[in-house]
Amino acid sequence: MHIELVKHPDVFLRLVSKKVSFPLDDKTERLIKWMYKAMYENLGIGLAAIQVGYQLRMFVMDCTRAQQTPEVFINPEIIEKSNETLCDVEGCLSAPGKREAVRRHLRIILKYQDKDGKEEKKTFYDLRARCVQHEMDHLDGKMCIDYEKGEYSRDKHKSQTMVESDFRVKHNT
Ligand code: NI
Repeated sequence: MHIELVKHPDVFLRLVSKKVSFPLDDKTERLIKWMYKAMYENLGIGLAAIQVGYQLRMFVMDCTRAQQTPEVFINPEIIEKSNETLCDVEGCLSAPGKREAVRRHLRIILKYQDKDGKEEKKTFYDLRARCVQHEMDHLDGKMCIDYEKGEYSRDKHKSQTMVESDFRVKHNT
């Protein structure tokens, strides 16, 4: 079965996601597994809950070549960013065919909770740091296609025409 993702220009992608409460209920546990599956099926390296129709502050990631070690980051917060940045082209599973240059910090420190609610802190570099920053944007309704010449542009964000779609009826976790 193919997992349908929420895609641009759906307005749902522009919502600010809400904090996840602990302990996780069964539905959220199932949702995490669903997100791993959706990420792998769509050949992505990261996926935020909003992209599968849930307005929750969490994302999954696996930047390895083997794609067998998925991780989930719940209620994440970037607590430190390197001064060094790098501009590179990014794409998004929710905006197929579109690519945009985005300037990201080369190193970040992320504070988050694991699925048991335990608070963790982790340092990410390079591609993983980029991926985390991309997913963090999703949690606040931002997308890589909003960037212009590497910088996030509120005007470009607002100028994107958005519509409501019927993705909500396409799947059930
Ligand atoms: Ni994305």
